[in-house]
Amino acid sequence: MACDCNRIHNVVPQLKFSPYTSKNLEVRGNMDRTYNLNGGFKPTTKRFADLDGPDFYPTPRWATFALIDNEKFKGDIWECACGDGAMSQVLSETGERIISSDLYNRGFGEIGHDFLSTERSSPNIITNPPFNSAEGFVATALRQAQGKFALLLRLAFLEGANRSRTIFHKHPPSRVWVFSERITFYPKGMKVTGSGTTAYAWFVWDKDHAGPTELAWFKPGYKQRYA
Ligand SMILES: C[S@@+](CC[C@H](N)C(=O)[O-])C[C@H]1O[C@@H](n2cnc3c(N)ncnc32)[C@H](O)[C@@H]1O
Repeated sequence: MACDCNRIHNVVPQLKFSPYTSKNLEVRGNMDRTYNLNGGFKPTTKRFADLDGPDFYPTPRWATFALIDNEKFKGDIWECACGDGAMSQVLSETGERIISSDLYNRGFGEIGHDFLSTERSSPNIITNPPFNSAEGFVATALRQAQGKFALLLRLAFLEGANRSRTIFHKHPPSRVWVFSERITFYPKGMKVTGSGTTAYAWFVWDKDHAGPTELAWFKPGYKQRYA
């Protein structure tokens, strides 16, 4: 990686990728019923309104630039919950072919493709998944990504007894990139004011990675540079 950020190594055991069934994660259809268990999930008011719905919050472009500035992706990249293309457009800066799809019609990419039940594979998968199906997206991406996948998730996704059991002890991420600057998510069209109160991180699973999970921090400045 190009970045010379501070890094520490944690003690999460390194395990091989293996098929990860929806059954293990107790995913039912579009909604992960375990999502609110164990007190780990406390969405901001801004995202709370859409908890039971399709959860459409476009990612500010700087947050995607931070990822591609620090992680290399070789081959096609599938943005599998593309919304209005906010993330896909930045991903095209990698020079790789970007495939975009979404379950709902957001006016961009292929419509009606449910990632949770997909049979499609791709060398790379990158998205900001709907919060209410985050575990299901991890499970599906573990199965369908041939090389690397990156999900933008709350930093607090790291905690929780259920996730510890079903994800982190079996399939720890290769790297976790913590944002130094806060991301503010707004429903599309809403005027952006103030700064966010929730910490986010890019969680990266890389089949070429050996060793324990790396924890890394983005240097401050992406927000201003790619506003
Ligand atoms: C938080 S938004 C992020 C949009 C886009 N990835 C971005 O970062 O700008 C989540 C998106 O997931 C889509 N979505 C919800 N459930 C889905 C599913 N099962 N399969 C594919 N897309 C889904 C929603 O329609 C919404 O566009």
